[in-house]
Amino acid sequence: MDRYAVVGNPIAHSKSPWIHAAFARQTGQALAYEALLAPLDDFAGTVARFRAEGGRGLNVTVPFKLEAFALADRRTPRAEAAGAVNTLALGADGILGDNTDGAGLVRDLSLNLHCPLAGRRILLLGAGGATRGALLPLLDSAPARLCIANRTRHKAVELAQAFAAHAGTVRIEGCGFEALADQRFDLVINATSASLSGELPPLPPGLYAQGALAYDMMYGRGHTPFLRAALADGAARVADGLGMLVEQAAESFALWRGVRPDSAPVLAELRQLIEAG
Ligand code: ATR
Repeated sequence: MDRYAVVGNPIAHSKSPWIHAAFARQTGQALAYEALLAPLDDFAGTVARFRAEGGRGLNVTVPFKLEAFALADRRTPRAEAAGAVNTLALGADGILGDNTDGAGLVRDLSLNLHCPLAGRRILLLGAGGATRGALLPLLDSAPARLCIANRTRHKAVELAQAFAAHAGTVRIEGCGFEALADQRFDLVINATSASLSGELPPLPPGLYAQGALAYDMMYGRGHTPFLRAALADGAARVADGLGMLVEQAAESFALWRGVRPDSAPVLAELRQLIEAG
């Protein structure tokens, strides 16, 4: 049976084995998918051993996405733009690195949440790896405006400059949080890691245009603190990042197997499991 795995450290709580098992059942693909704990100082060795044992592909999570980028022999344009790799295809002719996170976000927004992106004003909070991974797919969906706001302002400005060549007609800019005062957006995406430490990005009030969606890349039971704050600030709709997790997995599955699973029922079932605790 073809073998796949998600590799990270820690890895015990990863939902990826459950998601890919559901995709495999649904599409009738015979494959095994496990969780692989790599020592912090031996990502490359862990990948090499898995490959030598016949492993066909890996999802890569914290803290190895940059090492996976460096390890790949070839990379997709979206992985090059993201500067990070979350999917490795282990072929006889070498290792292909891809990044499906941003595509997963855009698919969740457009297909699951029916949130149109073309012509919209998008605010992306944070200027780390999560933001970088999302930028190319978001620009490709042709919003009117893409604003990157970050606590450390210069990182947002530099990221906007780095992606200006990909922006086409999209107005892309970087700024600090204070510069958001009196601005309105149709979609606000939290790509900061603030919630990991129970914090909120310090945002000025009144960010949400009429009908706006607030999206948190984090997920969990109930609303995240960012989504609660967004509702209090007038967001019409909120969504967490569980759909992005399932969609990035579907994108990896499609790359490996050439078959695209129907993600909606898998997402619905996973949501039920999480809400049930
Ligand atoms: P990731 O790969 O998850 O994006 P990262 O590259 O470490 O992680 O980036 C974390 C992002 O969250 C950064 O944009 C960081 O802001 P700084 O560049 O100013 O450090 C942001 N972040 C982390 N904690 C935050 C907080 N409490 N408030 C606002 N932004 C925060």
